[in-house]
Amino acid sequence: MSKAVVANDHGAVSLAAEVVRHLEKRGFEVTYLGIDHEESIDYPDKAEEAVMEYRKGGYDFGVLLCGTGIGISISANKMKGIRCALPETKYAATMAKEHNNANFIAFGGRIEYSENPLDILDGYIDATFQGGRHERRIEKMMALEGK
Ligand code: RB5
Repeated sequence: MSKAVVANDHGAVSLAAEVVRHLEKRGFEVTYLGIDHEESIDYPDKAEEAVMEYRKGGYDFGVLLCGTGIGISISANKMKGIRCALPETKYAATMAKEHNNANFIAFGGRIEYSENPLDILDGYIDATFQGGRHERRIEKMMALEGK
């Protein structure tokens, strides 16, 4: 079964719940590490938990959510091996997989998306990494870690 890990802070409680429901409806087994209340927590802690879980293996991707998606995606991108995209359109989400082979995708619960964030998520899920020249660029990108 395809697996995804999802985590959120207090800024994205209801969008995170929608994401989990959507993924389950699509047949994913979801490990949910977020919070379902609006008591303040720190998004870097949630990013770290989700990435540590992802690293256990067997996951197709992770979804991270905070108020804007910015803090939690930056946090995840500080961790080795993580490429977390923060797309606001389905096109960008598709490219995040096809060109960047993103292994995490982030959303903002307080962002007014002009496209349904679940469609944006589907764009990412349904896309396939194209390899080829993108492989070389990703290798270069990952070589920047720790510089
Ligand atoms: C929390 O108030 C908020 O700063 C957080 O959810 C996120 O938007 C940070 O990038």
